[in-house]
Amino acid sequence: MKPVTVMTIFGTRPEAIKMAPLALELQKRSNIRALCCVTAQHREMLDSVLEIFKLKPDYDLNIMQPRQTLSTITSKCLLGMDDVLNEAKPDLVLVHGDTSTTFAGALAAFYHQIPVGHVEAGLRTYDKWSPFPEEMNRKMVGAIADLHFCPTVANEKNLQRENITQGVFLTGNTVIDALQTTVVKDFTFAEDILNNLDYQNRKVILVTCHRRENYGQPMTNIMTALRRIADAFPEVELVYPVHLSPVVQEAAHKYLDNHPRIHLIAPLAVDEMHNLMARCHLVMTDSGGLQEEAPALGKPVLVLRKETERPEAVEAGTVKLAGVEEEVIFSMASELLTNPQAYQAMAHAVNPYGDGQACRRIADAIEWHFGLRSEAPDPFTGR
Ligand code: UD1
Ligand code: UDP
Repeated sequence: MKPVTVMTIFGTRPEAIKMAPLALELQKRSNIRALCCVTAQHREMLDSVLEIFKLKPDYDLNIMQPRQTLSTITSKCLLGMDDVLNEAKPDLVLVHGDTSTTFAGALAAFYHQIPVGHVEAGLRTYDKWSPFPEEMNRKMVGAIADLHFCPTVANEKNLQRENITQGVFLTGNTVIDALQTTVVKDFTFAEDILNNLDYQNRKVILVTCHRRENYGQPMTNIMTALRRIADAFPEVELVYPVHLSPVVQEAAHKYLDNHPRIHLIAPLAVDEMHNLMARCHLVMTDSGGLQEEAPALGKPVLVLRKETERPEAVEAGTVKLAGVEEEVIFSMASELLTNPQAYQAMAHAVNPYGDGQACRRIADAIEWHFGLRSEAPDPFTGR
């Protein structure tokens, strides 16, 4: 039987982390011809992930510009994808999640009348402005996609509410597959500062913050709260790998520079990040991916956002919404730093997002969809 051509399209760091293991799984399947196209909406942060997973893209649109706007990203991806899809003629395009690359990749495939599979489908806040523009990207891709790979039951139910019931597979999140390959016991960091931290006797807080809806006053509030936390608790070492966005770089350095226990460092390679997370005391973040990874590693998370499209770990008790007000962030962090019971209540490993089998299930579902396998994959049951 002729192999089906499946093209993965991604462009940013989180998409790469979650799509690389799937691209590698597809490459292993003899009845699938796996192609990979990167838009390079991110450049350095994408290349770092490609290097770790040893994944070589077949196409690279190389679109990134400093301070790029949503319109430039979307239009450059859309135009770039025209040539790629004309040449490669895939039978299926796979996009991931919620970025501008995701939306433009799905739209380009639709214009070429190529079926689309949406990985990490069905996450919703039902607020079109938050996360911005990710909530709408997810909804628009959901409307275009033919196959929907949902990490959780709640994601599947969200799609049902939108009358999307065909081609839906419950797979778990591929980020948990990625996590299983990166975290090791005796890890040596590239940065000495991370090797020299006393993870047993100090309280290392891992911070990331980059979301567009947090630009401006919310980011100022967050940074001010972080500095207050470092000032108030001498046992705290705050480690913040700062996203390369100039907006974020400016805010982080303006409020957090020149403090002996605040470590602003360059973005970490994904294996470094996962191993730092496995060793830290607490995570404070507005990232989507960290909200999924930290619970699997038993680390409490304070989410620096007003809402989350990932409620499962909140329900499991390991993640709390801290919002974007300085006073609330400070007091929620203080509670975890001073009250051992409150900390212990959050510090238990849960895996609502996956069991490490998501890539296999997605590849199986694709084979089944194309009649290359007799049985549909087993659904992710959660644990
Ligand atoms: C994008 C995604 C967001 C995702 C985030 C992950 C959209 C609209 N947003 O937001 O959903 O959570 O990625 O990090 O798709 N830059 C570099 N080098 C890099 C990466 C970024 O210099 O390797 C700088 C560039 O100046 C770029 C800016 O960061 O213009 C912002 O990048 P962009 O992709 O537009 O937005 P993110 O905030 O990264
Ligand atoms: N990450 C990383 N290095 C860093 C910061 C984050 O490898 O310095 C990883 C993190 O572990 C997670 C992903 O990047 O897998 C999250 O990406 P990001 O926060 O950029 O985007 P989001 O998940 O919010 O879309």
